[in-house]
Amino acid sequence: MIVATTRAELRAARESMPAPVVLVPTMGALHDGHRALLRRARELAGRDGTVVVTIFVNPLQFGPSEDLDRYPRTLHEDLKVCAAEQAGLVFAPGPREMYPDEQLVTVDPGPAGEILEGEFRPGFFRGVLTVVLKLFSLVRPDTAVFGQKDAQQLTLVRRMVSDFALGIEIEAVPTVRAADGLALSSRNKYLSSPQRLVAPLLHEALAAGEAAATGGSRAALDAAHGVLAKAGGALTLDYLALVQRGTYAPVRNNDFSGPAVLAIAARLGNTRLIDNVPVEVGTERDAADG
Ligand code: PAJ
Repeated sequence: MIVATTRAELRAARESMPAPVVLVPTMGALHDGHRALLRRARELAGRDGTVVVTIFVNPLQFGPSEDLDRYPRTLHEDLKVCAAEQAGLVFAPGPREMYPDEQLVTVDPGPAGEILEGEFRPGFFRGVLTVVLKLFSLVRPDTAVFGQKDAQQLTLVRRMVSDFALGIEIEAVPTVRAADGLALSSRNKYLSSPQRLVAPLLHEALAAGEAAATGGSRAALDAAHGVLAKAGGALTLDYLALVQRGTYAPVRNNDFSGPAVLAIAARLGNTRLIDNVPVEVGTERDAADG
């Protein structure tokens, strides 16, 4: 496994990389969720292709009051994970290598980047799409792998690829969870023991919403809110929202039926967690009506 920290090293390694080249962009602190992406990447690359992992904590996607400085950095352990999962190349640049000059031209994520995560983290998706586009330009992959854990990010990356005709396949991997349902996240490390006990309520709420979604969008949201009420003051909800799959347009109409995503973001103390599940809205009611 080659480890490159500069663009020049990456370029040199890229020249002799057997195709297909499958990219997994990460911010490091790799856990079993990332590992699932690396495994899928190896499947897609086949025995002879190349899996490229990027590890870069991207300052452009952190707000001024966010956790850039305390974001976990565990490069030594991350490299072991990448080697165990048969990555061929790890690109782990520093901020000056990625941003030698001020990044004046950035990617505008459009309307789907302004709601939910985009509303609570202004500039977040601009930062994400800008770094992802830059990583795509540097690595020139055939395919890139992203997690459904960050479903809005995945939607926007897909949209950027089609709107800019980037010609890169985007592959999605389902969310990997702990036994109690909590979606694995590098930020779970920040949770205190009492907070860790409350955190699975996010997924419990989404699961309740998913189960109730056959009765319509309002039923789904009510069921999810019902579960969240159990948290009392331990959890501050940023949003719980039902959006259409593919566009992330909010489902406002209780008559909506079809594929959707139930998404949540909540804060436990200083730690902000997000999660989502795909749901099918309204099929039972449609069947009853029909
Ligand atoms: P990061 O949070 O490190 O996540 C890297 C990739 O791992 C993303 O595609 C994310 O959706 C996926 N992932 C994280 N937790 C997961 C889980 N529990 N199950 C499945 N997949 C999971 O997302 C980013 O970094 C950055 O925004 C990045 C795209 C690298 C741009 O900086």
